[in-house]
Amino acid sequence: MAQAELTLPEGAAADWTVPQDWASYTTGEHAMWDRLFERQAAMLPGRVVPEFMEGLDILRMTKPGIPDFAELSERLMRATGWQVVAVPGLVPDRVFFEHLANRRFVAGRFIRKPEQIDYLQEPDVFHDVFGHVPLLTHPAFADYMQAYGEGGMRADHMGAIDHLARLYWYTVEFGLMRREGRMQLYGAGIVSSYGESVFALDDASPNRIGFDLKRLMRTQYRIDDYQQSYFVIDSFEDLLRKTSDVDFGPIYHELEGSTDLAPDAVAPEDRVYHRGTQAYARAKMAC
Ligand SMILES: [Fe+2]
Repeated sequence: MAQAELTLPEGAAADWTVPQDWASYTTGEHAMWDRLFERQAAMLPGRVVPEFMEGLDILRMTKPGIPDFAELSERLMRATGWQVVAVPGLVPDRVFFEHLANRRFVAGRFIRKPEQIDYLQEPDVFHDVFGHVPLLTHPAFADYMQAYGEGGMRADHMGAIDHLARLYWYTVEFGLMRREGRMQLYGAGIVSSYGESVFALDDASPNRIGFDLKRLMRTQYRIDDYQQSYFVIDSFEDLLRKTSDVDFGPIYHELEGSTDLAPDAVAPEDRVYHRGTQAYARAKMAC
């Protein structure tokens, strides 16, 4: 994940990377990974796209303990030419984009504490590695992530980062896919969360709306709770096509003159798979 204003932490390289220092993880930290992994691995089959489970397999991520990024990178490099590099925490947008554009995924090295098992603000190694890395073994998704980084570097020059960030949010972090009438998860923010893995697919509360690039870039999002809308792609190949064969410049220009849509909005032109009751969000607001 990225953020605009940050200063380079002490000990980090100019590209913000740090050694993972795998040998320094404690038994308790490895046990926390195993606990999170077992819970998600038992629940996800059938809910998550099969490409995710295949990725776990290709990367041998069923091996207990926090993965060693060097081993992971070696397997990932063989599959799609990607690597995983460690960073101390959030990194500036331009650093994040440049890593992605060069097929390097930046991952936090710390793991959450037991009291944070279901919620933490900053992405940890479980979110970053379990959530994001398996799909990087899929060629079209791997290309999409690189194209996103390249698009980010261009958006940075055009002052359009906020609009582009919504694309990442509603695909890479919170995307759903529908194939042969079956809705499944693929976004890392969902698949690394026990609660949202159920909510995003089964709950009547959120909207589930067909992917439309411009619509999605107009839509605000929630960072503090489950999403009020999810956007649904047909395939990774389709997502790649709908974003890489597009000139974003005129879209950003058009978006400057349009109003944002609220996280729970349903627009008349939407391809609606499920119109949410928003009961969950309303109950939360009433608290
Ligand atoms: Fe993430």
